[in-house]
Amino acid sequence: MAVSARIEELKSEALAAVAASDSTAALEDLRVRYLGRSAELTEIKKSIGSLPAEERKEVGRSANLASREIEETIEEQRAGIALAEREERLRAEAVDVTLPGVAFPKGNLHPSQRIIDDVVDFFVGLGYRVAEGPEVETDYYNFTALGIPPGHPARTMQDTFFVDEGLVLRTQTSPMQIRTMLSQEPPVYVVCPGRTYRRDSDPTHTPMFHQIEGLAVDRGLTLGHLKGTLAAMARHVFGEDVKIRLRPSYFQFTEPSVELDVSCFICGGDDPGCKVCKGAGWLEMLGAGMVDPGVLEEVGYDPEEYTGYAFGMGPDRMAMVKYGIPDLRLFFEGDLRFLRQF
Ligand code: PHE
Repeated sequence: MAVSARIEELKSEALAAVAASDSTAALEDLRVRYLGRSAELTEIKKSIGSLPAEERKEVGRSANLASREIEETIEEQRAGIALAEREERLRAEAVDVTLPGVAFPKGNLHPSQRIIDDVVDFFVGLGYRVAEGPEVETDYYNFTALGIPPGHPARTMQDTFFVDEGLVLRTQTSPMQIRTMLSQEPPVYVVCPGRTYRRDSDPTHTPMFHQIEGLAVDRGLTLGHLKGTLAAMARHVFGEDVKIRLRPSYFQFTEPSVELDVSCFICGGDDPGCKVCKGAGWLEMLGAGMVDPGVLEEVGYDPEEYTGYAFGMGPDRMAMVKYGIPDLRLFFEGDLRFLRQF
């Protein structure tokens, strides 16, 4: 075959292969095969010197033209492939900004926490400070300093969890009264929310429950200040319509002592079988009283100069009343179907 015809043949073979290739790697292989050092076209160019003189010029020209055309076609094809690859990548990486976003689940506050926040906010508004203390408490702070010495019958009423000799899970937040007074001089205005523990379990008692302690010590404080403060607090939490009543009571660390009841929101006193108020129409909400002078002496305050009042309430029970929840145990079972309702 004439050399020129072979060149044409190689060229059309190469152009067809280039047109059919679909990756830059395949194009590189074709370049080596048709234009590389040992390619047939390269060999032809090298052998031009041995051709008859009249053929040399023509063969040289067509070989060069063929090389250039193959080279250009490879470049064009490479540009086309690069563009297609880029478009493909852009398509794959495209973000549809109109798609709805991922909705992260939103938590909500536990009913007890709502009451705690509400009560604490109320007292902070009156100028009270917030303090928190340990849940594992010494026997001394939890009992003895509050007028309940070892062997006192009031200790058995509180169904205490003992941790170790002289250490208990606090049965009340009242030890915070002692801790606060030992750490500062009067005047004292403090509220102390926290967890408390007693061995008890029924629809209105759980082994862990919450209390909020309040303590005020100043010159000239009276039971009237206590009553007015608690009445305003009850209205703040339960609304202006709430009925309250004070009953005389007894605590070892207050004298006189009272209990504050609120009207039962669930049955309004009309249902003798009401699980919450048990038909009484009233719910015990807190214990309170004037700080016993013996307690003031215990912490080094002068009872002739200062008087004080203290109160301790159960925010869990207050939440039952406020939200109409019949069983306190639901609060601590962690059932999301229950918790999501608030
Ligand atoms: N600590 C008492 C209780 O748990 C409540 C209380 C607090 C009473 C403060 C009087 C003063 O029953």
